[in-house]
Amino acid sequence: MRKAFWGMLVFLIAGLIWLVSCTTTAKTGEPASKTGGPARKIEAPSSGKAVGKVELAKEAPRVKEVPPEKALFEGEIKPLSPVECARCHYPIYRILKDQGGKHRQVCTNCHEVYHRYNPLKNNWKAIMPRCDKCHGLPHGEAARECLSCHQEPHSPRRIELASVSGKCVSCHQRPSETLQTHESAHQEVGCEGCHSERHGRVPKCFECHDEGHVPDQTVEECLMCHNPHMPRDIKVFEGLEVDNRVCGACHKIELDRLASTTTKHGKQTCIFCHNRHGFKPKCVGCHGKPHSEALHRKFPQCLKCHLDPHSLRRPRLTEAPAQGK
Ligand code: HEC
Ligand code: HEC
Ligand code: HEC
Ligand code: HEC
Ligand code: HEC
Ligand code: HEC
Ligand code: HEC
Ligand code: HEC
Ligand code: HEC
Ligand code: HEC
Ligand code: HEC
Ligand code: HEC
Repeated sequence: MRKAFWGMLVFLIAGLIWLVSCTTTAKTGEPASKTGGPARKIEAPSSGKAVGKVELAKEAPRVKEVPPEKALFEGEIKPLSPVECARCHYPIYRILKDQGGKHRQVCTNCHEVYHRYNPLKNNWKAIMPRCDKCHGLPHGEAARECLSCHQEPHSPRRIELASVSGKCVSCHQRPSETLQTHESAHQEVGCEGCHSERHGRVPKCFECHDEGHVPDQTVEECLMCHNPHMPRDIKVFEGLEVDNRVCGACHKIELDRLASTTTKHGKQTCIFCHNRHGFKPKCVGCHGKPHSEALHRKFPQCLKCHLDPHSLRRPRLTEAPAQGK
């Protein structure tokens, strides 16, 4: 900052002196070159001390010395780097650095013009970068006022929940429809009941539910079976690993029977046979008809003899058929 200020001062003084010396030259009758540049053999002072020198020149123009203009004005001018802008705009630099995400770019990528604000011209909007120039309208026509939600362009993903409150459906049709069309207690909870605090936060089930069906169940497990937007529509179990005790939390009789049977069904998991919730498989789907034609014709219900799929108690040949059908 300081350095820049002094540099600027020196530069201004130098310019002033240059102007002064121009007039001096004119007076002395030297032809002013058309281009003004190097042809004019006036010395442009390069330091504060030079002031004295110029005054000297006034008295006796000594124009022989090598003009340093070339060095001053021929250098390649590079745009200020973000770090250089940061000398004066440190807070913005800091936000970009910490939270800028993909906006951590060269400032002048966006600020093609800057330091042009003039309250008299009321030109703030005109000189500020336009989001839609680079992004178009990513959320559609309805969301034109980018800065109403993206309040800090140098931290573009930071969105206040309040600025999107009640507008979820305009960008998230699918979850909104799912919640609305599938009856469940979560309809009462509402989007912001779960996605609270800040936009995009995903809640843990245990913020509201004391526990799962068995101890130590994780949220990842909950989501294997439950879509939070339609929690009562249990997902298919195909391909999952589910401990029988989870089912047993609600189907104790079946769990106990399966756990205590010595038959080969006891080695199977619940979901091996029940690959989606509520589905009751048919014995013949896995076994076909293992007995004689005659027997199956006479007793179409396997369970007449086998009694229960989970215990597969030894068939009571005398009783079962006698019970009829
Ligand atoms: C000079 C072009 C330019 C301008 C102007 C611009 N952006 Fe970006 N923005 C980008 C680029 C490039 C990316 C990175 C895109 C990518 O990699 O997918 C980006 C990324 C983003 C992202 C995602 C950030 C992340 O970290 O994932 C958001 C949000 C965003 N811009 C919003 C805005 C908003 C709002 C404005 C206006 C206030 C704006 N942009 C102005 C060029 C621009
Ligand atoms: C991705 C684009 C983008 C980048 C990169 C970017 N800006 Fe900005 N900046 C904007 C936009 C858009 C606004 C307009 C905000 C408004 O209209 O109020 C803005 C506003 C500003 C303002 C005036 C408003 C304020 O908060 O004081 C300053 C100063 C500024 N930027 C400096 C910088 C500096 C310095 C850098 C680099 C370190 C930088 N910007 C990088 C997009 C950008
Ligand atoms: C020597 C200090 C200094 C440097 C270096 C500097 N600025 Fe500024 N800038 C200011 C001051 C002072 C203002 C006006 C007060 C304010 O808004 O903070 C300003 C205002 C701005 C504004 C808002 C008003 C306008 O007219 O555009 C933007 C945008 C901006 N600067 C961008 C930049 C960028 C980009 C860089 C680097 C390429 C940069 N500035 C480098 C001092 C500086
Ligand atoms: C109603 C609020 C709202 C408005 C208005 C709005 N946005 Fe967004 N925008 C968001 C939210 C919320 C996100 C998601 C941020 C996140 O990732 O958490 C987002 C994300 C983005 C992204 C990143 C997209 C992605 O898929 O990663 C870009 C780019 C973006 N906005 C640009 C814009 C531009 C440009 C405008 C104006 C034309 C705009 N936004 C207007 C709320 C808004
Ligand atoms: C202007 C559009 C817009 C609005 C309005 C909006 N969002 Fe988003 N939201 C987005 C975008 C864009 C993303 C980023 C999507 C991505 O990263 O795939 C996002 C991300 C999310 C995520 C995180 C998704 C993930 O995979 O982590 C959640 C949760 C979310 N939004 C919920 C909400 C809720 C709840 C509301 C209403 C209070 C809302 N959003 C309003 C655009 C919006
Ligand atoms: C009972 C709490 C709860 C409610 C109510 C809820 N969500 Fe979610 N939402 C979640 C959880 C948990 C996830 C993470 C799911 C995952 O990771 O599989 C999620 C994921 C999301 C996602 C990102 C994944 C996706 O499906 O696209 C979005 C967007 C989202 N919710 C938006 C909404 C909106 C909009 C509403 C209101 C209509 C809403 N949510 C209501 C808990 C909820
Ligand atoms: C913000 C609070 C909240 C969060 C987070 C939440 N729930 Fe709920 N959930 C409720 C409330 C309230 C009910 C209704 C009362 C009850 O059953 O405890 C409910 C009910 C349910 C029901 C029964 C639905 C019905 O209609 O009877 C299921 C299943 C459920 N939640 C699963 C989940 C799962 C899985 C998660 C995590 C992905 C989760 N919940 C996250 C608040 C929440
Ligand atoms: C293996 C699948 C599975 C897993 C894993 C699972 N659930 Fe369930 N959940 C169910 C089934 C099936 C129901 C009963 C649905 C019905 O009543 O039709 C249910 C019902 C519920 C209910 C309704 C209230 C009740 O007890 O009847 C809540 C709440 C619930 N689950 C929360 C959770 C939470 C929280 C987790 C994770 C800790 C979780 N569930 C993990 C399958 C699962
Ligand atoms: C939170 C309690 C709960 C859990 C956990 C649960 N169920 Fe259920 N289950 C129920 C309820 C309640 C019903 C009856 C309501 C219905 O038909 O949806 C049911 C119905 C069934 C039925 C159909 C019963 C019939 O008479 O039609 C089968 C089969 C079943 N469950 C298997 C399972 C399996 C396998 C698991 C484990 C992956 C499991 N359940 C986990 C509560 C649960
Ligand atoms: C999802 C497939 C499936 C269904 C449905 C099924 N079973 Fe089985 N069953 C098996 C498997 C696997 C075995 C073990 C075969 C082996 O190890 O040789 C078995 C074995 C048996 C055995 C021999 C038990 C033993 O310990 O030797 C009987 C009896 C039996 N099943 C009867 C039934 C009856 C009755 C039903 C209908 C109520 C039924 N099964 C439904 C898969 C199934
Ligand atoms: C070998 C296959 C198999 C296994 C393993 C199995 N079941 Fe079943 N289950 C069946 C069959 C077949 C039926 C249908 C019986 C019928 O048609 O009445 C059934 C019916 C049920 C029913 C409905 C009971 C009724 O009265 O109608 C429930 C609940 C059930 N099973 C839960 C479970 C649970 C919980 C487990 C794990 C502890 C489990 N099952 C393991 C094959 C199996
Ligand atoms: C009239 C009674 C009866 C009926 C009905 C019946 N079974 Fe059996 N089943 C038996 C007897 C008895 C055994 C031999 C028991 C044993 O060895 O423990 C047996 C054995 C089996 C075995 C084991 C055979 C093996 O090779 O290891 C299977 C599998 C089986 N039955 C499936 C079925 C199926 C599927 C149905 C219905 C389509 C059915 N049963 C109907 C009485 C019956």
